[in-house]
Amino acid sequence: MKTALIIPAAGSGVRLGAGRHKALVEIGGQALVRLALEPFRRIEHIVEAIVVAPQGAMPEIQEALKGVDWPTCALRVVAGGETRQDSVRNGIETIDADVSLVCVHDAARPLVTESTVLRVLAAAAEGGAATAASRPADSLRVDTADGATEPLDRDKAWLVETPQAFRYEVIRKAHAHAQATRFTATDDATLAEQCAGAKVTVVESDALNLKITKPEDLEVVRGIIEAVQG
Ligand code: CTP
Ligand code: MG
Repeated sequence: MKTALIIPAAGSGVRLGAGRHKALVEIGGQALVRLALEPFRRIEHIVEAIVVAPQGAMPEIQEALKGVDWPTCALRVVAGGETRQDSVRNGIETIDADVSLVCVHDAARPLVTESTVLRVLAAAAEGGAATAASRPADSLRVDTADGATEPLDRDKAWLVETPQAFRYEVIRKAHAHAQATRFTATDDATLAEQCAGAKVTVVESDALNLKITKPEDLEVVRGIIEAVQG
């Protein structure tokens, strides 16, 4: 199934505090946005990849992607918005190719594997919407109405990640409806469910798919990538 890839990379990375946009932070000489694209390059049915860049850093993102070898795919950079949801919507609105599926993957997750991507795409093709996720390792508690906390069954909990994938009509409808009703969510699977009635299939990530949020996350990911590269 022909697929468009959206890479939201328009955040500023306040919590990382690197003094530059998070997507431009480098590991082993490569920007995070470039590393996050890597496993997708081997998937032939991705015909269009749209990197959503910070409004003020389009040339820097373009520079970071210079020379990416992906002859089967049209790679473009578009401007993002104020929130992640705005950025993803901007990306979706510029899809040019005649695609059946749309995959969304954060530039902040450079450890994603090709096999996780392929399983998420297959689940979305089958059921309309899918997300990568992991089981929490820690025990969980949630706040209660009376100001106390109570335990949550860890075996039933998922930590929601990207990649997420959707049938094209599902994600178009979800973002249009969310914009019209001012519905916001922190991920697109929630939008697909709440605004387009989709059923979300959860696909367990096959390896640590850490999101770089804080400086310590960057160091962990750097260590893993350097260990793999030798
Ligand atoms: N993102 C985006 N547009 C925004 C905000 C975020 O495209 N307006 C992207 C980020 O670039 C990142 C992903 O969404 O790849 C997940 O967001 P997050 O990890 O929160 O990144 P930042 O918003 O950059 O970080 P922070 O919240 O610490 O500022
Ligand atoms: Mg953010």
